[in-house]
Amino acid sequence: MSDNNVQIFDTTLRDGEQVPGCKLNTNQKLIIAEQLENLGVDIIEAGFPVSSPGDFKSVEEIAKLIKNTTVCGLTRAVENDIKVAAEALKYAKFPRIHTGIGTSASHIKYKFNSNQDAILQRAYDAVKFAKSFVEDVEFYAEDAGRTDNEFLARVCEMAIKAGATVLNIPDTTGYCLPSEYGAKIKYLKENVKGIEKAILSCHCHNDLGLATANSIEGVINGARQIECTINGIGERAGNTALEEVVMVLKQHPYLNLDTNIKTQHLYGISQLVSDSMGIYTQPNKAIVGANAFAHSSGIHQDGMIKNRGTYEIINPKDVGVTESAIVLTARSGRAALAYRAKNVGYELTKLQLDEVYINFLNFADMKKEVNDKDIHQIIETSKVYKQIISA
Ligand code: KIV
Ligand code: ZN
Repeated sequence: MSDNNVQIFDTTLRDGEQVPGCKLNTNQKLIIAEQLENLGVDIIEAGFPVSSPGDFKSVEEIAKLIKNTTVCGLTRAVENDIKVAAEALKYAKFPRIHTGIGTSASHIKYKFNSNQDAILQRAYDAVKFAKSFVEDVEFYAEDAGRTDNEFLARVCEMAIKAGATVLNIPDTTGYCLPSEYGAKIKYLKENVKGIEKAILSCHCHNDLGLATANSIEGVINGARQIECTINGIGERAGNTALEEVVMVLKQHPYLNLDTNIKTQHLYGISQLVSDSMGIYTQPNKAIVGANAFAHSSGIHQDGMIKNRGTYEIINPKDVGVTESAIVLTARSGRAALAYRAKNVGYELTKLQLDEVYINFLNFADMKKEVNDKDIHQIIETSKVYKQIISA
């Protein structure tokens, strides 16, 4: 792995699957896991094995199926969780145990009724125990986003001392501002003894709509792994969307950070996850939403027809979308109508277009969107139809 490579850790099947009512069965998970491997993710978090026999089985089956990608199982800092995860991962070519504990003042006081020293010890013990099963152990400091940086650095040091290969710094509640999250990663890079032995990982939730921005700030400041889900699904407002962070890095090459993702598979896997879970992506969702490459206002359509780059910063083919759409509505202009009419076989002169456009506006005022069949009807009922077909 080069210094500029950002590892993509996909948690669609673990954090993503925590969306209420979206439980997947083992077969559905296997299909998604296979597609995640094709997409080029570096790590698949397959589940939380101790949580249920079904989750155990899914992690075990995914571990058997996946050939080149690391397969990871989540645990709490609890010996039995770790033992069960190691058992579920025993067939994995590249197994990783992801263990950890809450580190913020609120987690220590209310969740554990404990103190900082005891948390440091539990972090150490959990990583050490996980290391007795696998070499690759990731430690998470839950609610790191609201954890005091000095204490967080001490927790990270303990985890590294016990052998952690990756340190996950979750903004569990999606609270941080991008500048704050970036500064946290920088602080850890500069103040944790032994930090060169581990990779820092961003795990950001989207409660304030900042998950993607926070993850990008994280990698700009030295993290080299992003934890994310397809379509940004996950607890509450979700996790960082995989397709967003990957495309931000691709479209900003001067950041000099890249991933192993084959971006042309993004749209396909987005559809697969949304169909399997029965959660439909909002039409204006960045990168994979139905309208992400659709243009409907006259001014935009005219610009697009003259030069795609006027209104598009991504080539739709790069993310697996066949082409941009010029959507005909009552806000569309003559350029869009001429373009769509040409696509269905009518080459209109300027005068013919003026005449057909009057029909089109009347029609479009009654309908939300004008489709190819409607274009035929509009042209066939125009005064210049005979002229058009005899040309
Ligand atoms: O959001 C979070 O803190 C998590 C951890 C369990 C990694 O999902
Ligand atoms: Zn999470």
